[in-house]
Amino acid sequence: MNLTLKIWRQKNASDKGKLVDYKISDVSPDMSFLEMLDVLNEQLINEGDEPVAFDHDCREGICGMCSLYINGEAHGPDRGVTTCQLHMRMFKDGDTIFIEPFRAKAFPVVKDLVVDRSSFDRIQHAGGFISVNTSGNTIDANAIPVNKADADKAFEAATCIGCGACVATCKNSSAMLFVGAKVSQFALLPQGKVEATDRVLNMVRQMDEEGFGNCTNTGACEVECPKGISLENIARMNREYLKASLKG
Ligand code: SF4
Ligand code: FES
Repeated sequence: MNLTLKIWRQKNASDKGKLVDYKISDVSPDMSFLEMLDVLNEQLINEGDEPVAFDHDCREGICGMCSLYINGEAHGPDRGVTTCQLHMRMFKDGDTIFIEPFRAKAFPVVKDLVVDRSSFDRIQHAGGFISVNTSGNTIDANAIPVNKADADKAFEAATCIGCGACVATCKNSSAMLFVGAKVSQFALLPQGKVEATDRVLNMVRQMDEEGFGNCTNTGACEVECPKGISLENIARMNREYLKASLKG
């Protein structure tokens, strides 16, 4: 396939940035999207140009590092996949592909297609954990019975990889799907109930401080989430928040 790529280039956070056109030929439909960008970067390096900066790590849909906005969709036109799992067979010979970074006030651009998502880390640090005594007195996980339906829902919530596609997709740049998943993951388990009140209050406070917008129930986040995290998690977080506020 021969393609035209329109890629967002931005030297640093203060640079204005612009879309730059690149031609790429002989792209195999079996290549992943990131492999196609690797080929482009090799081409650019050989021509003495600066390669395009983009985030990636595992390249198998687990780490949440890849983060491209492709033809106006977070993680591109396929469903239930991350950018690293997107294949070039989703495009046609002669296509023009727009490639931009995830855009949100709380995700400032570092360079080209790389954005700073450390706001997510700070939300996690505010409460996305349980405190366990690991000094030789750790209780075997199986010693605490967990209802199967709750365990399944907690597991589903825990599949959130923190990629930020929900934020990039939302017209309000809301992080409610991400935070909802992280709160739900613990709220459903007995181990998570001990710190439940502080967790939800602290995580929501941090989310607001980071400058994410609010949820207006559009549902775009759920559609674009590569892990199929359900809006149900936002509703659960809201219930947890109300409960915690009344207690507090
Ligand atoms: S909820 Fe989905 S889209 Fe949002 S960070 Fe988690 S995996 Fe990514
Ligand atoms: S590179 Fe790890 S999820 Fe895409």
